[in-house]
Amino acid sequence: AAGRRERKEDHVRLATAQWKGGTRTTEFDDLEFVHHALGGVSLPEVDLGVELFDRTVAAPFYINGMTGGTESTGRINQQLAIAARETGTAMGCGSVSIALEDESAADAFRVIRRENPDGLVMANIGVGRSVEDARRAVDLVGADALQVHVNAVQETVMPEGSPDFSSWLRGIEQIVAALEVPVLVKEVGFGLSARTLADLASIGVAWADVSGRGGTDFLAIENDRRPGRDYSYLTGFGQSAPAALLDARAHQGELGGMTLLASGGVRDPLDVVKALALGARAVGVAGSFLKAVVEGGPEGLVELIGSWQRHTRELAALLGARTAADLESTDLLVRGRLREFCTLRGIDAGACARRKQAV
Ligand code: FNR
Repeated sequence: AAGRRERKEDHVRLATAQWKGGTRTTEFDDLEFVHHALGGVSLPEVDLGVELFDRTVAAPFYINGMTGGTESTGRINQQLAIAARETGTAMGCGSVSIALEDESAADAFRVIRRENPDGLVMANIGVGRSVEDARRAVDLVGADALQVHVNAVQETVMPEGSPDFSSWLRGIEQIVAALEVPVLVKEVGFGLSARTLADLASIGVAWADVSGRGGTDFLAIENDRRPGRDYSYLTGFGQSAPAALLDARAHQGELGGMTLLASGGVRDPLDVVKALALGARAVGVAGSFLKAVVEGGPEGLVELIGSWQRHTRELAALLGARTAADLESTDLLVRGRLREFCTLRGIDAGACARRKQAV
């Protein structure tokens, strides 16, 4: 248990350090909106509220699952929950597993509901846990939904990992069938392919967060935790969120009406609207918000989220979108490596550049 607590604190420390550097480039940079100078709408007409599970949230982005289980990570959850409450933002927490085995770790998760009794809160658990554990995680947090993370790359490189993948799909199927709350399956920064999404759809999963590479880098984090176990040559493994969304769109017919969320490397309001334009219902943000709360406390994060809420609406107005769904008819150029991904996967990237005309 001591090792687990140490791991939670390592993750926060190393992830925060990753986001301290200056600007990073990601495949969101390979996406470019075509500007139509007379195509905008009036700001007061824009409403970017979206339905998440059976609730409406004011803005199309949320605080993604990160931490909990120790005193210091409990304080971070408390501060995230205050910011979520003050801004009406949905939020997740880190894997609750640690608290299922050690009651002294539970308060670092319960604090979220205490601070934010009415907000949309998601519990989190790793794939491979039992239905009973999944239920206990939801109850402990008092959650409206459960995130189940699939993290095969992390399990491969993590010193304490268990690369025991073959029963994962069956495990998720059982949890989805048994739980009373919606279940969202997510990656942790390596992306979900269309094939993975189709597998998930086939077992009844209705919500997935593609969580792609380009943001918080768990390869680098696990590598830094145990010098001597060097997996740095794997850097760049997996798909970005934009690639995953384009892949999913090309296979929409196989996804059974699944609702997609996107995360991984979201740096600013422009990345948010780009992900929405590629079909994400809402956008998860971990590293950018973690840095803000570690550096500026709940006030710092409230300010950042408030500015993202304003800016996403302004960008939508500029792009002629009254709603988040309207962003899906913006004209979007796919360039560079992202375009190459599309070519190799047989995806018509050019179709995104001609959507306005088509309407
Ligand atoms: C995470 N993430 C994560 N995800 C999850 O499902 N369960 C978890 O316990 C954690 N733990 C965790 C700790 C820390 C410190 C960070 C920064 C992130 C992954 C997170 O939800 C997200 O998928 C990735 O971080 C990619 O998004 P960003 O950080 O690039 O916005």
